[in-house]
Amino acid sequence: METYPYRPLLHPDPPAMPQYRPDKGFRLAPVSPAHAMLLRDTWKFGGNSWSLRYLSLLIRHFPNACLLAPEGTPISWCLTDQLASLIHGYTLPEHRGQHHLRPVVGMLAAQLHARGFPVYTRVLTNNKPSLHTLQRLGFRLLPGVFYRLVVRPGFAQSQPASALDLAQDPAPSSGEQPRTHSTWGGERRGEWDTA
Ligand SMILES: CC(C)(COP(=O)(O)OP(=O)(O)OC[C@H]1O[C@@H](n2cnc3c(N)ncnc32)[C@H](O)[C@@H]1OP(=O)(O)O)[C@@H](O)C(=O)NCCC(=O)NCCS
Repeated sequence: METYPYRPLLHPDPPAMPQYRPDKGFRLAPVSPAHAMLLRDTWKFGGNSWSLRYLSLLIRHFPNACLLAPEGTPISWCLTDQLASLIHGYTLPEHRGQHHLRPVVGMLAAQLHARGFPVYTRVLTNNKPSLHTLQRLGFRLLPGVFYRLVVRPGFAQSQPASALDLAQDPAPSSGEQPRTHSTWGGERRGEWDTA
């Protein structure tokens, strides 16, 4: 079992969050189920069919946002989970440090707030870039530490995540037809206006 300590963060006033526009040529869009493989392959806990299934379900069922490069590739993204927490914030390594995550989080925070949800998340205590980015957006650290326990029965921690697929049956499919839109109420379009 591995234990990961996270700091909870809450935005006290989402409408006051600056709305950063994407750089020229970049555009905001919902994350597509077709992006699930990219998210799996770049995720620290990804790398197998179980993580792909988990990410695909999050993408299909809960709000999310990504920043698409001019050629249509996602370079920065953020999902939400079943507790309406921001989760899986990520910027491709070659695009980091250019504030691409700001418009993504801003767009998602506006959506959550409009639907009556708090805007909050949790970040590993040693993840300085993420803590810094969120605090620059106005998030406040909450007291306490949230511990995530990762248990992989019968699976040595030294093995790569892909070994899970060899050790047991691959994850069952969600049994759903792929959809291109999330379902937290409201219409979703393939792209968002950022003006
Ligand atoms: C955390 C993360 C999403 C930030 O994305 P980003 O688009 O680089 O965000 P920003 O450009 O606002 O950079 C954040 C800070 O990183 C630092 N930074 C600058 N250049 C950087 C670089 N080349 N690489 C990494 N961090 C850099 C800066 O301190 C910057 O703060 P600033 O506002 O003072 O300039 C990104 O580093 C990432 O994907 N990390 C791995 C996954 C992860 O930890 N996700 C968060 C889970 S909660």
